Amino acid sequence: RQILGIEGTAWNLSAAVFGEELISLHSNPYSPPNGGIHPREAAQHHAAVLKDVVSKALLDVDLKDISGVAFSQGPGLGPCLRTVATAARSIAIALNVPLIGVNHCVAHVEIGRHTCGCDDPIVLYASGANTQVLGFLKSRYRIFGETLDIGLGNALDKFARSRGLPHPGGPLIENYAKKGSPVNLPYTVKGMDLAFSGLMSAAKDCKAPIEDVCAGFQETAFAMCVEVTERALAHSGKNEVLLVGGVGANERLREMLLVMCEERGAEFFVPEKKFIGDNGAMIAYTGKIMLEAGQTIPVENSGVNPSYRSDDVSVLWRRDTGD
Ligand code: ATP
Ligand code: FE2
Repeated sequence: RQILGIEGTAWNLSAAVFGEELISLHSNPYSPPNGGIHPREAAQHHAAVLKDVVSKALLDVDLKDISGVAFSQGPGLGPCLRTVATAARSIAIALNVPLIGVNHCVAHVEIGRHTCGCDDPIVLYASGANTQVLGFLKSRYRIFGETLDIGLGNALDKFARSRGLPHPGGPLIENYAKKGSPVNLPYTVKGMDLAFSGLMSAAKDCKAPIEDVCAGFQETAFAMCVEVTERALAHSGKNEVLLVGGVGANERLREMLLVMCEERGAEFFVPEKKFIGDNGAMIAYTGKIMLEAGQTIPVENSGVNPSYRSDDVSVLWRRDTGD
């Protein structure tokens, strides 16, 4: 059984085929000429490269072996989601195979569980648009805590842009931070939730050298994420932590989570780079386990959902845990 998966919720148009293991993965990322990602321009980019990316993913595959087409149904940018969904529907109809609508956040989690070999983790999902702490309980990925305003990646990217740095700012901030000593910036954790816009504004206004501001931004934001992750670990009684989403590429964030996990006797997992940010493999793999659980959707009922939440998905492919 082989599944074609197409991802294109925001910056990366990416397609993959997943069988027993990953068979192919091809991507064509959109880089905005200046400023942040404009939804319509990103969608035009996706439409322009889609045929090439999907063809490359299917190059060494016998189309007769494709038994389903999965696509990222949301959350994400409306025009991007619609472009990918239209392509996925056409391919599914042409191949006469089922269509699988995949939640992008859940796909980040599932490719992480699969490739890291962890079982039942507390997940820190830190990306551009999303920052959530999740855990599986009663047939769903429950959101234990999340950002109340913007995603951590967006906060980093917007701060970077205010300093004239190109998009995405996350990796550049990481480099500056390595050379700086952290300034104090506002720390906002409310219950199990986080907020990053106050921190971002304070960083924008801070007059200290950029290396020190970047170091302060990272230390503060990551400590907030680690605090909420640690509390979720304690409350849930789980003993694994999985880091996913584009911000998970950051070495300092990994180091801070590893230290917390070691102190608590928990195991820490992070997927290899090609699976951590947006990629087609996570959609193809999640599509595969959803198809095996019978979670397909009819074409006429396959509308996209730009605000699709992780806990809206009924997770039929995992055995239930908890009370
Ligand atoms: P989602 O739809 O899940 O929110 P996304 O479109 O934001 O996904 P991802 O690839 O998951 O895409 O994450 C991209 C974000 O990751 C960007 O904000 C980018 O700045 C950030 N990022 C990438 N590398 C690093 C890094 N080394 N340190 C910090 N942030 C990083
Ligand atoms: Fe993502």
